[in-house]
Amino acid sequence: MREARITVPGLARKRRDGDKIVMLTAYDFPFAQILDRSGVDVLLVGDSVGTCVQGHDTTLPVTLDEMIYHCRMVTRATERALVVGDMPFGSYQRGVSAALDTACRLVQEGGVQAVKLEGGERVAEQIEAIARADIPVMGHIGLTPQSVHRMGGFRVQGRTESAKELLLRDARAVEAAGAFAVVLEGIPQALAPEITEALSIPTIGIGAGIGCDGQVMVLHDLLGLGDHTPPKFVREYVNLSEIVGKATRMYAEDVRLQKFPGEHESY
Ligand code: KIV
Repeated sequence: MREARITVPGLARKRRDGDKIVMLTAYDFPFAQILDRSGVDVLLVGDSVGTCVQGHDTTLPVTLDEMIYHCRMVTRATERALVVGDMPFGSYQRGVSAALDTACRLVQEGGVQAVKLEGGERVAEQIEAIARADIPVMGHIGLTPQSVHRMGGFRVQGRTESAKELLLRDARAVEAAGAFAVVLEGIPQALAPEITEALSIPTIGIGAGIGCDGQVMVLHDLLGLGDHTPPKFVREYVNLSEIVGKATRMYAEDVRLQKFPGEHESY
């Protein structure tokens, strides 16, 4: 029998019951289907598609139309996981009306059940408007990749007392505005449990240590797909670049030596 889809109230229950939330990024149909069938709770169609799939150095060039294209592939593949669509740079910074348009398009055209946007206090109005439209919205604070130029690189945030206070304020603002969960990215591991305790919504960490209600990882980092050195917080469970490279070299050799196709691979 098909398992019921994970819901926003279901994630709140997981936090209450102390069940950790498992979240991964997904960008296309085949991987989304594998992750859904593996029991991943939340699939984030992240704007990290820009760096993982499109070959950009940052997430900034990713457009809303591109996000919708990827959301459609992922939502078509999922039956159980809650799918969250990332709001790309430029699609909500212009104000509440732009943010609402973006969230509606991700739900209506992309088929997602929820959306995510980066920022704390400075995007509270946008979060409030989206939540008021009954679209579940996830916050994202700390190392927010769309702020790469302000931060001067992808740097751990919240290291000083004042930065820590700002992050706590951001977390409270995101919750007060109506977010159903918040991603904590790139912060000291001692700060994550403090934020988690200060909130009543689930916190989902990436590079934030163990003290969160769940964890999210970029799929291509977990799979070892890509030729960059992964950040410290990544655990590479397999090296797919090596495996795919080996398979490709074997195929090339077989073609060149006329060992492929064989009798049983021909009509
Ligand atoms: O786009 C993304 O992959 C993200 C995660 C890092 C949380 O926002």
